[in-house]
Amino acid sequence: MESGILTNQRDNSNQNRTFFAPCEQKSSKIFRTMLVLGIESSCDETGAALISDKDGLLADALYSQIDMHRHYGGVVPELASRDHIRRAIALVDEVLDKAHKTREDLDAIAVTEGPGLAGALLVGTSVAHAIGWALDIPVLGVHHLEGHLLAARLSTPAPEFPFLALLVSGGHTQIMKVERFGHYELLGQTLDDAAGEAFDKTAQLLGIPYPGGPGVSALAEKGESGAIELARPMIHSPNLDMSFSGLKTSVLTAVHAAPDVNDETFRANLARGFVDALTDVLASKLTRAMKQTGLKTVVVAGGVSANKQLRERLTTEVRRRRGKIFFPPMRLCTDNGAMIAAAGIARLEAMTPEELNELREKKSFGVNPRWALNTL
Ligand code: KG4
Ligand code: ZN
Repeated sequence: MESGILTNQRDNSNQNRTFFAPCEQKSSKIFRTMLVLGIESSCDETGAALISDKDGLLADALYSQIDMHRHYGGVVPELASRDHIRRAIALVDEVLDKAHKTREDLDAIAVTEGPGLAGALLVGTSVAHAIGWALDIPVLGVHHLEGHLLAARLSTPAPEFPFLALLVSGGHTQIMKVERFGHYELLGQTLDDAAGEAFDKTAQLLGIPYPGGPGVSALAEKGESGAIELARPMIHSPNLDMSFSGLKTSVLTAVHAAPDVNDETFRANLARGFVDALTDVLASKLTRAMKQTGLKTVVVAGGVSANKQLRERLTTEVRRRRGKIFFPPMRLCTDNGAMIAAAGIARLEAMTPEELNELREKKSFGVNPRWALNTL
């Protein structure tokens, strides 16, 4: 495939082809086709993927470090970084093989620049820049949460802008208004624990191994709604902010008061009570946001968007208000390389040829462990 990003020839047949068709496209499209490698290494998953603007997602590969971190009850940053070093290049080669491409076919690389663990981010960005400089192609630092959001656009049908976004991950719980590609207005967020964190801490109290989300969710399926009622902090507050640390305390209090914490019915009912309380708060805040903004299209993304009960509850609430709801494909809800490639290709498509050249010429890089999405 001819690498076309930096050529000045136009190929009219492809001129209007864009992967995400950003609303505010600055560039006249000068590349013929674009093949982007995405690399993710912000936490405990190493991911790589290839996306072409013509054919969409060509290949992706993921290595999860969960088994390694499980022994410690959570992610150990230094171990995470070392393991990313072991996996990153092998995963890049794997996706190239799967898609029958070579490194020379790449037009650009997108890599998670933040937020995340500094050491882990440095591994992905170092690999991306080493490959990029060797091939003389642009390397773009991508915001991890923009990746989560745009993963929903890898679903069919894809959501149209503008939309409301509920981001529920291990580190973030935010409601955003997304007017158009790249414009993220924060409407509300958790004031303490993130939804994923609340799942993980509840799992710990119930003796469910890290990461707790899927385990708590499976246990909740066997429980009875209403058998154990837990706190729903800030559910009636007039704004779109949330708090989940009170819910966690409420779980702890129930555990301490239980005659037998190992009783299966108690455990299932507590898990159900937790999931019901959390989904109630999220549903209430999201529908309040729909009312406040008048927006009817909703995107739910981030690791917790894989949660069955949350998906069902939000789908019911949004449809009741004649809205449309979109989730990423199930396997792309948690961290992966495809979402980073997707965000990267959308940003690259919105760049002018000069900006692309500048990016290619740049011979330094850094990471951004604490990076707010609304500052993009
Ligand atoms: O987005 P993500 O993969 O990583 C971050 O960017 O933080 O989210 C990880 C979080 C973890 O807290 C995990 O327990 C939660 O997502 N999670 C789930 C489910 N799958 C992952 N929570 C509830 N139900 C699930 N099925
Ligand atoms: Zn994530």
